Amino acid sequence: MLEQKILGIKTEALERIRSVKDDAGLFEFEKKYLGRKSELTGILKGLKDLSQEDRKKIGELANAVKMEISEALEGKKRELKNAGFDFESERIDVTIPSKANGYGHPHILSIVQREIEDIFTAMGFEIADGPEIEQEFYNFDALNVAKDHPARDMQDTFWLKPEIQNPKSKIQNKSENILLRTHTSPVQVRYMEKHKPPFKIIVPGRAFRNEATDATHEHTLHQFEALVVGDGVNVGNFKYIAETFFTKFFGKKLEIRLRPSYFPFVEPGFEFDISCTVCGGRGCPSCKHTGWLEVGGAGMVNQNVFVSAGYKRNAYQGFAWGFGLERLAMMKYKIDDIRLIESGDLRFIRQF
Ligand code: DAH
Repeated sequence: MLEQKILGIKTEALERIRSVKDDAGLFEFEKKYLGRKSELTGILKGLKDLSQEDRKKIGELANAVKMEISEALEGKKRELKNAGFDFESERIDVTIPSKANGYGHPHILSIVQREIEDIFTAMGFEIADGPEIEQEFYNFDALNVAKDHPARDMQDTFWLKPEIQNPKSKIQNKSENILLRTHTSPVQVRYMEKHKPPFKIIVPGRAFRNEATDATHEHTLHQFEALVVGDGVNVGNFKYIAETFFTKFFGKKLEIRLRPSYFPFVEPGFEFDISCTVCGGRGCPSCKHTGWLEVGGAGMVNQNVFVSAGYKRNAYQGFAWGFGLERLAMMKYKIDDIRLIESGDLRFIRQF
């Protein structure tokens, strides 16, 4: 009897599902054949009152039918869902060429900085850095630039107003005046305060000058400082390292020229030039028609600087230099105006 009834429910349900056309129909169907008050659920609930033998037989049959009806319902749900879907308009044509994606890439200055770092780290140098907002002490005093010395005027400084100096900052101990560092040289002293020779470091970083801009001057520039300190380090070591660097950086031998010069933090000091790679030495706006490009200053570290950093006078020797990153980028990539580099002009940036 019960078996007949269950099979009857099945036949009826599978017949009925065919005429279901919408969500409301699905809902009704589910309620009628699988819901809590459906006949089938009633039969399943009543199993406990049957004999053990019937319970097994009827239970199996009722559950199998329930499964079949559930599957039919799910099938119908899928069918109705797909019916509302316009396959033709949703078709994806995988053969259509894709839109070109604009990829970002490192800025020319980052590229050059990495090239420089690679060459120096391969020679055993470490990379150090320091703050761009600096104390007057590190930018000038510790570098042997006397308070009233005209050398302070060699670099036009952006001084920060006291009211924008951070009152909580610990930097105020050594000097009250805060500035945008005019060169990367203050990092020499900061590094030496924390390290004992021998060491070889380079310091790539940003510096700022309050000056008019032209094809070779920018108010915001990048330098990389080098500092090599140990026993008996000499000018010969400097020339060798500098020549090795430039040969690797430009991939060819360049002419190098040292001119005696004065920087308070070195003694002796020199200006370091290389032959202009934009014009090959014939003369162009980049080299101001001299055929030479000034790369930066260099020299043997003045003993007063060692003393500022806490070393004993005459305990060590060392050389230092500060070279312009933009200059090197201009020479290597033949750029004739420094102002292009940080202009943000994509037509320029995309060339590298
Ligand atoms: N700091 C100097 C400048 O910005 C460049 C310089 C000269 C750095 C001589 C040095 C050096 O380390 O020895 O103009």
